[in-house]
Amino acid sequence: MLKEENYNESKTSLETPKLLSIVDSFIESYQYGLTNDHSIMIPSYVSRLPTGKEMGTYFALDLGGTNLRVAAVTLLGDGKTSVEQRIYVIPDHLKMGTAEELFDWIASITQELLESLSSKVVNTNNDKMFMGVTFSFPIDQTAIDRGKVMRMGKGFKVIGLEGKDPVELLQQAYNRKGINIHISAIVNDSVGTLVANAYKDQNTIVSVIQGTGTNAACIVQIGSIKKKKFPPGFPEYMIINTEWSLVGADFLPFTKYDKLLDEQSDSPGFQPFEKMTSGMYLGELVRLVIVDYVENFGLFEGKLPEELGIKYNFKTTHMSDIESKDCTGTLKVLTKNFTFINNPSIEDAGIIKRIVQKFSRRSCQLQAAAIASLIKLQCPEFPEVEREIRVAIDGSIFHHYFKYSILVSKAMKDIQQIKEAKKIKLSGIFDGGCIGAAIIAMMYSR
Ligand code: GLC
Repeated sequence: MLKEENYNESKTSLETPKLLSIVDSFIESYQYGLTNDHSIMIPSYVSRLPTGKEMGTYFALDLGGTNLRVAAVTLLGDGKTSVEQRIYVIPDHLKMGTAEELFDWIASITQELLESLSSKVVNTNNDKMFMGVTFSFPIDQTAIDRGKVMRMGKGFKVIGLEGKDPVELLQQAYNRKGINIHISAIVNDSVGTLVANAYKDQNTIVSVIQGTGTNAACIVQIGSIKKKKFPPGFPEYMIINTEWSLVGADFLPFTKYDKLLDEQSDSPGFQPFEKMTSGMYLGELVRLVIVDYVENFGLFEGKLPEELGIKYNFKTTHMSDIESKDCTGTLKVLTKNFTFINNPSIEDAGIIKRIVQKFSRRSCQLQAAAIASLIKLQCPEFPEVEREIRVAIDGSIFHHYFKYSILVSKAMKDIQQIKEAKKIKLSGIFDGGCIGAAIIAMMYSR
């Protein structure tokens, strides 16, 4: 029979002192990134925030981990927007195909959107249509509309894309199809989300994505970006794409399951923070624990359902389902999704539920620590911040994982330990990357 002490290796709960030391380590990494490391703390070249009064229709394209979204975003001038869009799941063969195939597919979906748009949706002053592209992968940006793709994660291995400028490739695909759209900006989804939230709330200084992947953006003074030289007269502040998924190899509290997941992934050593916290990997972490418990501690009478022997077959959505139910409900989730040789017991279901909770709680705690560290980076006097701070959060895990947002807020309060916590508010936003890209296209259209 499985004993509670066998859980030691999945001991994932983090006490406040440990979390505080993680906060400090994140800050050190950000500072190193601003000074030396070009793969994190990437300048976005977005140096303005919207006022909320801007108006007009601008286009956005959002290439994320799972979906492609092409949208016409109308800024209504009162902090509100309306969006007309097409969303498609990115087929696996395009994630592994050539860059040309991927961008031609994107161009044909853009064409579909343009054809379907009502005649109301036209640009305000002229016929030129401007687009902002949200590219949810690391790029080394050299201008608001220029950058080179660095290594891609989230299951993407597009042939001929690394080292290339996605703006150029997309513009070429549009030209091939005769689409008259000018791409005026390329941004990371975290940067777009910050700007989109600032359109409705000027207190926004941090944004977070917690979905298939995870990332955050913040605003820093140009002077602190020591690794880059900016021309004289350049604006004083800039939004930074932190690429925080890459941080933490030397300080995150890895269990043997984290190490195994990393070793067996197609990108060992890459994005350790993402592998511990994000939607792409949480389910797989739990699957690895289940396999270990079946093989070594008699879970499910030692017999693993065939489906659970396959990598990434236990999904993060299964975790959320399980968390929303009691042990009887958990049993149903298990038997509905996996084929058991002998029916699992209610005790088995209880064990699964506890494993799931441990890894999701740890994800919430680590996300909270990373958010706290960004606020602290920006407000050296933290937590005695003088004004309200909004942290905009988008992403499927934050919006849809059972109680995730509540638990991140709670973990933030534990970290801050004090009354000032009320000045920091997590503010959920939908389609932030997309809406933000359109706003940035507006701000930088020429
Ligand atoms: C991955 C990407 C990052 C993106 C994040 C969320 O971590 O590297 O650029 O912002 O996923 O989509």
